[in-house]
Amino acid sequence: ANGAHVPAVVIGSGYGAAVSALRLGEAGITTTVLEMGRLWNEPGADGKVFCTMTAPDERSMWFKRRTEAPLSTLLWLDVVNRNIDPYPGVLDRINYDDMSVYVGRGVGGGSLVNGGMAVVPRRDYFEAVLPGVDAAAMYDRYFPLAQAELQVNTIDPEFYAKTEYYRFSRVAAAQAEAAGLKTVFVPDVYDFDHMEREAAGDAEKSALGGEVIYGNNHGKMSLDKTYLASALATGNVTIASRHQVTAIEIDADGNYALTVEHRDDANELIESKRLTCRHLFLGAGSLGTTELLLRARDTGALPDLDEAVGAGWGPNGNVMTARANHLWNPTGLKQSTIPVMGIDDWDNPEARVFAELAPLPAGIETWISLYLAITDNPERGHFTYDAAADKAVLNWSLEQAQPGVAAAKSMFDRINRKHGTSYRYDLFGDDRAFADDFCYHPLGGCVLGEATDAYGRLNGYERLYATDSSLIPGSIGVNPLVTITALAERNLEAILAADFA
Ligand code: FDA
Repeated sequence: ANGAHVPAVVIGSGYGAAVSALRLGEAGITTTVLEMGRLWNEPGADGKVFCTMTAPDERSMWFKRRTEAPLSTLLWLDVVNRNIDPYPGVLDRINYDDMSVYVGRGVGGGSLVNGGMAVVPRRDYFEAVLPGVDAAAMYDRYFPLAQAELQVNTIDPEFYAKTEYYRFSRVAAAQAEAAGLKTVFVPDVYDFDHMEREAAGDAEKSALGGEVIYGNNHGKMSLDKTYLASALATGNVTIASRHQVTAIEIDADGNYALTVEHRDDANELIESKRLTCRHLFLGAGSLGTTELLLRARDTGALPDLDEAVGAGWGPNGNVMTARANHLWNPTGLKQSTIPVMGIDDWDNPEARVFAELAPLPAGIETWISLYLAITDNPERGHFTYDAAADKAVLNWSLEQAQPGVAAAKSMFDRINRKHGTSYRYDLFGDDRAFADDFCYHPLGGCVLGEATDAYGRLNGYERLYATDSSLIPGSIGVNPLVTITALAERNLEAILAADFA
């Protein structure tokens, strides 16, 4: 209700936020979670909660008039995207000048739209990226805890070896291995028992039915089924969906006062509320958390926030590319949407790359091998607050993406040379073989130990925390969800022990 006070508020409901909500709830602290996206639990007219990738409707994207899929064309034709009605759909694409960022919107954040790949980073790289964090505690305790809570599992290699749904992956893995590269299975939060039942015809198809970036109707253990369900079960946590925090202030008693806009599905304002809390956790994602803090600092609402807020952003070296296979190497009409294998060439000092073998479930044979490469790109961008637009603007140029492109090119040139194959130039618009202008893994903006102390407490204030991907300085070398979760577990444990006495 308007003017209400709660002990703790969590902004957002992705990985960092969900961990915070559960651990606060377990500690007996009454907590409100504010999420701007929808609660995705009711079927639409077609009986499904989410739409598919091949027939997207208004549920697909966040207030767009046309879908903006990562692969925008096929044979240069605009056959992928569809006109849709503006609606609070589950996937957003935020377009800055030289970089577009995909994020999830809804109760569960990115877990609703992502591939669920749950990879623990290499310890030496983790130590280099976050030298202030005790790596022994992370690898002994918090990574295993995160994997258990997230219900991470691995595909049965026998199922993988036989099923037509992973032909695309077997073809790409064999080619990489023939070129002397190492491949590894990648764990995931998609329930592989469910997937095997889908293949056998005993369960409704989701991963095997072309669902992922616009939501999975079955099979995926997204946060609403894990951390957030456990948080609600404590009895101390409530989640308010379609509630967007627009401003943060501090009152004379040191409570945080939030401006919260509750909107309907047509985006009409139902109510603008003021909510106060003692402890405030920002889990709105790299972009969301950074924007709220920059706005608070630069409008003078929280003037003592560190100058480092806004700095240290990177796309986790994301570069997408695709190769054209020979006619005798079809990649399969049927493709699981969940990648389960990666090429691991992180030991190559010339070009460190971890590339996932990605599906292209077009429903037709394409002979395409698609990859999302994670590269060790040292470039960093930063956000500035544009007062006139009341928005955070990302300062990142296409030139800054080039070290990542060069590393990816070195890996895939090697595979092409070995097999006499070439790149596909028709998938990303503009005759480009490498998509260097969008990412799935935004990291940084409120870097741990720079804008915050060693546990995510914002410098300059008390009882104010960043708890999500904004803490990681731009790169982690693998898909980031496990690291975000484990880091939040570590930080919350310290914060609950010290700040709630
Ligand atoms: P996250 O972004 O998950 O959640 C933030 C939430 O806050 C959102 O629900 C948002 O709506 C809400 N919010 C933002 N501003 C707000 C405001 N002002 N008020 C209220 N709510 C607000 N990673 C991985 O490890 N393996 C993978 O396979 C993939 N695959 C993948 C595919 C795709 C398509 C995408 C888009 C992303 C991935 N990722 C991934 C990345 C992964 O999903 C991402 O790193 C995490 O979701 C980030 O977690 P956070 O906790 O930072 O926030």
